[in-house]
Amino acid sequence: MSGSQLWDDVDFYFSSHLAPDDEALQAALRDSEAAGLPHIAVTAPQGKFLQLLAQIQGARNILEIGTLGGYSTIWLGRALPADGRLISLEYNAKHADVATRNIARAGLERIVEVRVGPALESLPKLADENPAPFDLVFIDADKANNRHYVEWALRLSRAGSLIVLDNVVRGGGVTDAESSAPDIVGTRAAIDLIASHPRLTGTAVQTVGSKGYDGFALARVLG
Ligand code: SAH
Ligand code: DHB
Ligand code: MG
Repeated sequence: MSGSQLWDDVDFYFSSHLAPDDEALQAALRDSEAAGLPHIAVTAPQGKFLQLLAQIQGARNILEIGTLGGYSTIWLGRALPADGRLISLEYNAKHADVATRNIARAGLERIVEVRVGPALESLPKLADENPAPFDLVFIDADKANNRHYVEWALRLSRAGSLIVLDNVVRGGGVTDAESSAPDIVGTRAAIDLIASHPRLTGTAVQTVGSKGYDGFALARVLG
């Protein structure tokens, strides 16, 4: 869904004042575009929002599901200390390749690792490595699997971890209980899980902007 001129103008106002993008972020979008990647990265204000959430969490370990060209990855990676770690899972080898170069240009190659493959195959392998719990998990891949991704996020986290899901509104489509669209079914299943799981408490916030009408769900892992 495309937004209005007004939503674009407001995004521009906030991004230019509060979330200015530097050369590495601009180049990440430029090279993503040149490689033909879809224009579905978070906006600059949303990237800054994710960065602030990671800082508020005091995050040292971040998991991202859905890298694309690494734009959200760079915002999140910059929230981490020099010995922090961000693992980003990406199905598409071309996307991962573009992202890896964008991440290196941003100077984050020692912090960020992009792993190629379907996330539902990468996640069990990651769990087998017994990684330190992730302080923040950003879920932004195939929405059909959102419930599975929340389950994995929970397994790989600790009390106090934060789980963030992108694109939970989709122009209002999320309210359609009769929908058979895999994205809507998957997102509604994730929302049901957050609502019913004894170790999760969450909410969702609607957003408008240059990416149209959408939103984030946030879930905090309880003890
Ligand atoms: N987080 C990025 C945007 C991600 S777009 C940003 O805001 O900059 C969604 C990405 O998820 C795409 O690159 C797509 O290839 C990837 N994806 C789709 N299905 C996937 C799967 N099963 N496992 C891992 N990644 C997947
Ligand atoms: C789509 C995916 C996203 O992650 C997003 O932020 C916007 C759109 C999509 O697949 O259409
Ligand atoms: Mg998204």
